[in-house]
Amino acid sequence: MTGAVLRPRRSALYVPGSNAKALAKIREVDADVVIIDLEDAVAPEAKVTARAAAVTVAQDGLDGRELVVRINSLDTPWGGDDLAALRGAPIDAILVPKVSSGDDVARHVATSAGTVPLWAMIETARSMLRLEEIASAPGLGALVMGTNDLAKEMTATPDTARSQFSGFLAMSVAAARAFGLAVLDGVYNRLDDEAGFAAECAHGRAFGFDGKTLIHPKQVAVCHAAFSPNEAELAAAERIIAAFAMPENADKGAIRLDGQMVERLHRQTALRILATAKEMGLR
Ligand code: COA
Ligand code: MG
Repeated sequence: MTGAVLRPRRSALYVPGSNAKALAKIREVDADVVIIDLEDAVAPEAKVTARAAAVTVAQDGLDGRELVVRINSLDTPWGGDDLAALRGAPIDAILVPKVSSGDDVARHVATSAGTVPLWAMIETARSMLRLEEIASAPGLGALVMGTNDLAKEMTATPDTARSQFSGFLAMSVAAARAFGLAVLDGVYNRLDDEAGFAAECAHGRAFGFDGKTLIHPKQVAVCHAAFSPNEAELAAAERIIAAFAMPENADKGAIRLDGQMVERLHRQTALRILATAKEMGLR
């Protein structure tokens, strides 16, 4: 099996730590991961109250779902205090923004005392040139695409197919897989464009992302549908496994199935799809 991570992370909903109403809602939202944001969604004057709110949510717990806090970078006036406040808090990961090098990861790991895994935002132009160094840094659990910041830094205006980012999306997934990390796609800003959102979820799944970061609870259901194996995929996976289990195929590396060549590597993919489905409670 490749370095794919099995724990379902189809959806990761950002919630601004400064938005008490939104924070009060997260227990009703069915996202696999909740990311409380202390960074770009929080104004400077609200940084201290947002930090305290994140610690309170962590102490209250989130029944089974992963809780991640996106801190301010150590290069800002707030990052050190964010890490200090979260030391020992019952959270699943700390998401570090604007990571540009392996040294950036190491600095945050050292300051956080290595108590929880770090996740790295991949959103600076420099990070694109140093993906291997970042993804292989000790202490990291996931890469998270920050496509809004990336567009800003590149001065790009992405089209609906995000063709300007194709290489970066593919390289980020490859970097994650090479080092056994989870990898999440960037957010979709157009809150009322449901068809566009569904298409972008499908686009991300086709690249191999485990899931997508979200900005609104209403995006969760469509996202889960896109990042879960559907009935046809599950049935196809079961057919491949059954075909290679037949005695006449025992010594074959490649067979014909439903008009297609199928190799033993496809059996491994089929096993991964079924294992993922089991983790999602689908099989
Ligand atoms: N998490 C939890 N609840 C949320 C939410 C979120 N990300 N976004 C909205 N809600 C809640 C609202 O609080 C509101 O609750 P209510 O019915 O109790 O009042 C309800 O969902 C409907 O919200 P709506 O009016 O549709 O959204 P809005 O116009 O108030 O806010 C945004 C729109 C984009 C400002 C808001 O969704 C948001 O802040 N998203 C996250 C932004 C973020 O974290 N960005 C950083 C990473 S890119
Ligand atoms: Mg960003």
